Amino acid sequence: MIFRQFFDHESSTYTYLIAERMGGEALLIDPVKSNVDQYMHSIGEMEMKLVLAVDTHIHADHVTGLGDLRHATGCASAMGEMSNTECVSIHFKEGDKLKVDNLRLDVLYTPGHTDDSYSFVLPDRVLTGDTLLIRGTGRTDFQNGDPADQYDSLFDKLLRLPDKTLVYPAHDYNGMTVSTIQEEKLFNPRLQVANKQAYVELMNGLQLDNPRLMDVAVPANRNCGLKSAA
Ligand SMILES: [Fe+2]
Repeated sequence: MIFRQFFDHESSTYTYLIAERMGGEALLIDPVKSNVDQYMHSIGEMEMKLVLAVDTHIHADHVTGLGDLRHATGCASAMGEMSNTECVSIHFKEGDKLKVDNLRLDVLYTPGHTDDSYSFVLPDRVLTGDTLLIRGTGRTDFQNGDPADQYDSLFDKLLRLPDKTLVYPAHDYNGMTVSTIQEEKLFNPRLQVANKQAYVELMNGLQLDNPRLMDVAVPANRNCGLKSAA
């Protein structure tokens, strides 16, 4: 499998390029609009065909590259059925599979950071979006976020994956690139709570500034990062 992690320095976003092999089909997860040329260069170098570009959720901190990639390559674009956007060609839901050649990514619905947050599971790894971060979890204070839902997504879904499962988040602010489910169970301070109520109180007690680009990014991303026709 080809699995490449790109980093956007402005928003600390990770983008993932996934393919079964060089010369085959490729999938991008959480592409950033300003880095589309970089992804296209890598895809071109490996003579791959981009077939699908996906966002784990509507992002508030960067503008998505979904629309530009679709224009450039004719790839399909996808967000979850809860994203409430008409700009994508595919809406996935829990239980669906994203296909790229013979690879299959299982879709998990993991709300809480937002109500349209999804994770994608491969046999040895999981892409957790902003639901589970390395030694952290995604904030739950806007875009219909809900700490109780996030607790359920974490403890009833993601943390039930095998301990050795590699964890690849959509962001990291401390230079970390990958973790495992076991490491996060043991060392993630947000997960050391006695119960759901304690998690809700922990998350509701956070005092966080809004993302700098939020007012621009959220409406843009509802239109796949393209200017609306209106
Ligand atoms: Fe997010």
